[in-house]
Amino acid sequence: MAFVMDQVSATTTGAPLLSVDGVTLQYKTPDHLVTATYRVSFDIHRHERLILLGPSGCGKSTILKAMAGFLQPVEGRITLKDRVIEGPGPDRMMVFQEFDQLLPWKTVVQNVSYPMLVNGIGAQDAKERALDALAKVNLSKFADAYPHMLSGGMKQRVAIARAMAMKPDVLLMDEPYAALDALTRRKMQEELLQLWDDIGFTLVFVTHSIDEAVVIGSRIVVLSPHPGQVRAEINCDHLGLDERTSPEFAELTGRISHMLFDGQDVAH
Ligand SMILES: Nc1ncnc2c1ncn2[C@@H]1O[C@H](COP(=O)(O)OP(=O)(O)O)[C@@H](O)[C@H]1O
Ligand SMILES: [Mg+2]
Repeated sequence: MAFVMDQVSATTTGAPLLSVDGVTLQYKTPDHLVTATYRVSFDIHRHERLILLGPSGCGKSTILKAMAGFLQPVEGRITLKDRVIEGPGPDRMMVFQEFDQLLPWKTVVQNVSYPMLVNGIGAQDAKERALDALAKVNLSKFADAYPHMLSGGMKQRVAIARAMAMKPDVLLMDEPYAALDALTRRKMQEELLQLWDDIGFTLVFVTHSIDEAVVIGSRIVVLSPHPGQVRAEINCDHLGLDERTSPEFAELTGRISHMLFDGQDVAH
């Protein structure tokens, strides 16, 4: 491997929750075949915040879609708790980019209940689970409020509560803050890390921002440009928001930047 990075921490030992194993993903268009990722492998352990980092077009969203079960690998396999993923399921919840996806005519608790109702959970049970999830993200007081009454950070908490109410094994987020201004983005990152501290979940988070990857991630999978291949795995659990002005943070982001923009070697 071209870049052998930091030691893998104790949290990443033992059986993985989710395994991406030699996965090649392709799109068939009418006139050609697009290879989005080529033989990508990495593991995700429970309670990790795993970042998929790479330049635009390297296949990050495609890997996430395959994890969600919307796309099947042409080579390799993705397993969750040792079972091959063959389609979408409530054990993998995508928290979508737009927190304004909340239905504006439904209250917060109705928004959180909605996916459960769609998945055949009874109304009473769904409401109880929704209220439970809202309590966990500290939004009980806003259960009967409408989305327009909430700040961006609160909407993110509702979106996460809605996903968590389904009791998934993993939350998937695809560049959720890409369209935000720097200050709002920082606030959302703080909120997300606080929530992770409070309720604990397994997160797969896609970004093309090196700084965001180091702040949010406990581990980073660095992908090469199109077609995406794993260039390195980096443990960065010791570097977060409080360390972002430290020399170590700058050193790591510099190293990753070099890897993304100058590195030619690709690990197999
Ligand atoms: N629906 C599609 N049909 C054909 N090609 C696609 C489709 N979606 C993505 N691609 C191609 O697959 C590659 C990876 O795309 P994507 O996963 O969206 O990258 P990223 O999320 O890293 O920016 C790109 O070359 C993109 O053009
Ligand atoms: Mg994308």
